[in-house]
Amino acid sequence: MSKKIIIGITGSIAAFKSIQLISDLVKQGYQIEVMMSESATRFVTPVCIQSLIKRKVYVDTFDDENPAIITHVDIVKDADLFMVVPASAHTIAKLAYGMADNMLTSAFLAATCPKLIAPAMNVHMYENPITQKNIQTLKETGVVFVEPISGLLACGDTGNGKLADEETLLEMIDYMLAPKTLIGKKILISAGPTQESIDPVRYITNHSSGKMGYALAKAAFQSGAQVTLVSGPTHLKKPHGVNIIDVINANDMYHQIIQRVHDYHYIIMSAAVGDYAVQNIAEEKIKKKEDTLLLEFHKNKDILLEIGKRRSSAQVICGFAMETSNLIENAQTKLKKKNCDMIVANHLKVEGAGFQGDTNVVSILTTDAVQNYDIMSKQDLAHVILNQMKELEERKC
Ligand code: CTP
Repeated sequence: MSKKIIIGITGSIAAFKSIQLISDLVKQGYQIEVMMSESATRFVTPVCIQSLIKRKVYVDTFDDENPAIITHVDIVKDADLFMVVPASAHTIAKLAYGMADNMLTSAFLAATCPKLIAPAMNVHMYENPITQKNIQTLKETGVVFVEPISGLLACGDTGNGKLADEETLLEMIDYMLAPKTLIGKKILISAGPTQESIDPVRYITNHSSGKMGYALAKAAFQSGAQVTLVSGPTHLKKPHGVNIIDVINANDMYHQIIQRVHDYHYIIMSAAVGDYAVQNIAEEKIKKKEDTLLLEFHKNKDILLEIGKRRSSAQVICGFAMETSNLIENAQTKLKKKNCDMIVANHLKVEGAGFQGDTNVVSILTTDAVQNYDIMSKQDLAHVILNQMKELEERKC
C-alpha cells in the first residue's frame, strides 16, 4: 500500500514551490492529502493543488462533508508523515504553542506520525529569537526541520530564509519514511575517484562518478546511522545529514580513513582509489618539448588492505572489486587478501554496471557465499549492501 503524506501549505511566497513538490510526490506513487492555511490560498489556489492530487484540499476545519467523521482527527490516523512546506513564522508559532485554529494546525496537533517542517520567511523573521525558540520547542517534541537556505529573498533582503531546494526536501522525506534499522551504528564510507597530480595543471584519475558511495551514504543516513563520507572529487550534490570529508589524492584518503578505523562499526571502501601516484610531481607546468614523455609512478598504499590489518573482529568491512575478467575469482582473492567480510564485485563490461550510470549489476561475496543480483538502481543496491552488513554483524554476535 502506498504511503500517506499530509502536506500543510502556509502563507509564504514559497508556497508556489509546493506545487512542483506535490506533483513529484504524486508521480512517485504517494497518497497525498493537502491542507492549506487561509493565507496560503492567497498565494496558490486549492483548485490547482486539487487537480494534482485528485482529492479535496482542506482549508476550513468546519468543512466536514460527513458529520460522522471529524476530518482533522480522522485524516491523520493512518498518515506516515505530516509535512508543513513552506512553514511561515506565524504557523510555526501556532504549532509550537499547540494552537488549533484552522484545519492545518488542528490536524498537526492531532497527528502522531513523524512530522517535518520546512520554514520559508524573511531572514530577520527567521533569525528572530522568538521564531528560533518556537523552532526549538517543536524540535524538542521530535519534529524534524529542513533548514532554509541562504539567498536573495522575495522581500529583497539577502540571508537565511529561502525554502530548502526540492532535492533536499525529497531526501528528507525519504529519510523520514525509511525504516530506522541502523540507529546507533557509525558508518565510514569512501567514494569517488582520486586525482594524482602530474604538475600544477594536470592530473591522472579514473572514470568513477562517486554515485555508488554517495548512494550508500544516503541510504545509511536514511536508515538512522551516523555517517562519514570520505569523498574524492565528484560533481555530485553532497548528501544531507552526512559528515563529509573531501580529499583529492589516494594519500589524503588513506590518512583521513586510517585515523578513523577504530571509530566505526561498518567501513565501506567504494572509492576507486588510484593505485599509483606520480613519483616526482613537477613544480612548474611541463612544457611540450619532447615527442614522448615518461612519467615514473610509485604504488599508493592499499587503504582497504591497511584497514584489514587494523580492524577488530566485531567491525564489518566491505570492499568493492571492479573487474574486466574472472570476476568471482579475482573478487575472492581480494576478500581474503584484504581481510574483508564482504566484497561487492561488478563486471565493468556488463551492460548496466560500472562507474557513470545510476544502475549496477553485482555479485556480493562473503567468506562462505556468493550471491548474484540482477540489474538494480545504485540506491536500491545501497540498501541491499547495508542490510547484508547488518546480517553479517548479527551473525558475529
Ligand atoms: N582499494 C584501496 N586502496 C587502493 C586500491 C584499492 O582501498 N590503493 C580498495 C578499493 O576501494 C576497493 C578494493 O580495494 O574496495 C578493490 O579495488 P580494485 O581497484 O578492484 O582492486 P585493487 O586492489 O586495486 O587491485 P587491481 O587493481 O589489481 O584489480
